Amino acid sequence: MLRVPDFSSAPFILIWEVTRACALACQHCRAEAIDVRDPLEMTTAEGIQLLDDTASMGTPLVVLTGGDPLQRDDLEELVRAGVERGLRMATIPAATPRLTRERLASLKEAGISQFAFSLDAPDAATHDAFRGVEGSFERTMFGARTTRELGSPLQINTVFGPWNLDRVEELADTVTRLGVAFWEVFLLVPVGRGTEAGELTTEQCEVLFEKLYRVARNVDFILKVAEAPHYRRYVIQQLLAEQAETAPAMAAHLLERPAAPGDGIGNSPRAVNAGRGFCFVDHHGDVHPSGFLPSSVGNVRDTSVTALYREAPLFQQLRDPDALLGRCGRCEFRRLCGGSRSRAFALTGSPIATDPWCGYQPGQVPQALVETVERGRRGHPGKGRRGGGHPGGGGHPGGGHPGGGHPGGRR
Ligand SMILES: C[S@@+](CC[C@H](N)C(=O)[O-])C[C@H]1O[C@@H](n2cnc3c(N)ncnc32)[C@H](O)[C@@H]1O
Ligand code: SF4
Repeated sequence: MLRVPDFSSAPFILIWEVTRACALACQHCRAEAIDVRDPLEMTTAEGIQLLDDTASMGTPLVVLTGGDPLQRDDLEELVRAGVERGLRMATIPAATPRLTRERLASLKEAGISQFAFSLDAPDAATHDAFRGVEGSFERTMFGARTTRELGSPLQINTVFGPWNLDRVEELADTVTRLGVAFWEVFLLVPVGRGTEAGELTTEQCEVLFEKLYRVARNVDFILKVAEAPHYRRYVIQQLLAEQAETAPAMAAHLLERPAAPGDGIGNSPRAVNAGRGFCFVDHHGDVHPSGFLPSSVGNVRDTSVTALYREAPLFQQLRDPDALLGRCGRCEFRRLCGGSRSRAFALTGSPIATDPWCGYQPGQVPQALVETVERGRRGHPGKGRRGGGHPGGGGHPGGGHPGGGHPGGRR
């Protein structure tokens, strides 16, 4: 089980975009990936320095993402460097001809703890059209099967938008059959090519949550919902309505299980959100609260990731639920949810505005009842909570656009 740092001093998870190059042409791609590597990508040595800093900061988990991480020949070296520093390492290969059994085996041998593949439709024609390349569905299936054969925990990622809302049950059946340890469901964030992909209404989000909640209650694997923390609000509302006494323990089980089946990587035992337990480093070394919230606070080439994560005004502001504006700011669920900061930024220009895809009107659930869930989750056995206290902090550095800021020199 992964240790959980105090989120004001280190993220639970750091995502490093090792390259933006990718041979797929996905309709929604936040990175607007093209099949050419950028000469200004972080080098191997810079990457190892980043892993060093990340481990020293107290972060337990690093995900090497892309683009397509398989485009880098030094991926195994980077994985080994992370493992040597005590990090748990995961990666998200793209489903292209670079995805071979040999490469997966060599990455496993280097120390990858979990492989994730993207699957966005239960049939080849729809998935391939979405990913822009024929054959990507079959390659995803190959990657998933091979991961299982190699004995590694398997994660499938699925992005939902208006185009596949009616395929939730079929996709759930498919991932169950593949034997996943972890199903990560993303709700579209209108950034990059995703600005053209269409939007979900708040009502459609609630319908999606209802379907996902039904799945989550009946499966053994972890179902995590990314870029829609209001799923947490939905689950807690349902649990409180069903049986208030068991709600804290059930909420912990459904939302915060720290270990997935088969030694898989689990969920953070505390709610992470952009800049709060979560940090993204792009292919040039620029540090952002999330890959879906493109607002750089500085670059690891001249400032340590530790200083940027801890001291950047934007990160400090995002860690303070009381800094949120509008409905999110008034909402009794703001500590447990807080809305997608990325979507708020994408659609309103402010990272602390209300998440426009949540239609909840605050005040429907008594604050005291929400607090029993908060307190109950903290006391839940196996939560690995350390350091105590509220993980937020950082004060409210004033309104306006909080981007920029370049705190601290490099050690
Ligand atoms: C950063 S990507 C990993 C990169 C990898 N090449 C891929 O797409 O599978 C992680 C997940 O984010 C999803 N994603 C990409 N762009 C997105 C967007 N604009 N909104 C929501 N999810 C997105 C991808 O579908 C993928 O499941
Ligand atoms: S209003 Fe904001 S904090 Fe409240 S449930 Fe919706 S997204 Fe979450």
